[in-house]
Amino acid sequence: MSETRDRLAIIGWPVGHSRSPLIHNHWLAAAGRAPNYVAHPIDPNDDFRAALEGMAAEGFIGANVTIPHKEAAFAAMDEVSVAAQSLGAVNTISFKQGRFMGANTDGDGFLLGLETAMDQAVSAAGWRDRPALVLGAGGAARAIIAALGRAGIGDIRLTNRTREKAEALTALADNVSVGDWGARQQLAEGCGLLVNTTSLGMTGQPPLDGVSAMLASLGDGALVADIVYAPLETDLLRAARAAGRHAVDGLGMLLNQAALSFEIWFGARPEIDATLRAALIADIEKG
Ligand code: ATR
Repeated sequence: MSETRDRLAIIGWPVGHSRSPLIHNHWLAAAGRAPNYVAHPIDPNDDFRAALEGMAAEGFIGANVTIPHKEAAFAAMDEVSVAAQSLGAVNTISFKQGRFMGANTDGDGFLLGLETAMDQAVSAAGWRDRPALVLGAGGAARAIIAALGRAGIGDIRLTNRTREKAEALTALADNVSVGDWGARQQLAEGCGLLVNTTSLGMTGQPPLDGVSAMLASLGDGALVADIVYAPLETDLLRAARAAGRHAVDGLGMLLNQAALSFEIWFGARPEIDATLRAALIADIEKG
């Protein structure tokens, strides 16, 4: 197979740290395809649409998009998915006969990670019928809130250190309310899902405070998810397990948003196997 056809890329600036090539090349190889997925930096000062057209001419058939280009990618598309439209951001592009189709798999990837975790935790299955508490109001929180809304969660509670940033996200779904960062414990009352989308707990960042009080407030059988994956076992997840909660680590969203992108390009969802997880963990531990 030619190395210059059917190429794929992660587009960002900078993009050298991305784990997407490792993940997608694993699936490409498993499918008997050439591992043609590369990191492709695009300077934010360049014309994004022109850069995509150049890639299409060079044999690329699609791309993932990361910081800082998700909004520029949205603006450059000919067509976008419902999820991309609600976020105004694209993380997956398909190049089809000169047209650019944009999708956003971040939020659905998060949900899929939860569902996979639930296979092993049947008692947590009731989380959809209970309130959900989201900590943080950055890009990941946006995608997760919109996905929780699409999943029909009737009471989505949001809190962020800077309250105005949380207020700005309430239009992403029905039934989103905002509470004070200092009221995290009360907001967690009876929730079936707690998700940390802040950088707190990440290697080199301050810890997330008030974890045990929040965990104690959650409903029975609640799921606790962290999108931080370095370290993989954050203090939040360790405390959640110790408190008998179901913990979902940050690889859930990372791997499942990638799996949904791969499915968009190739029509079949790839398997997240133990070899891939181990390779990813080894890469993360390398720093
Ligand atoms: P994303 O990758 O999700 O886009 P981001 O924009 O860097 O992330 O957002 C980081 C999140 O962590 C924000 O919600 C941020 O809160 P602010 O909006 O108040 O900045 C939160 N965060 C970072 N450091 C924090 C701290 N020391 N205490 C509380 N929240 C913090």
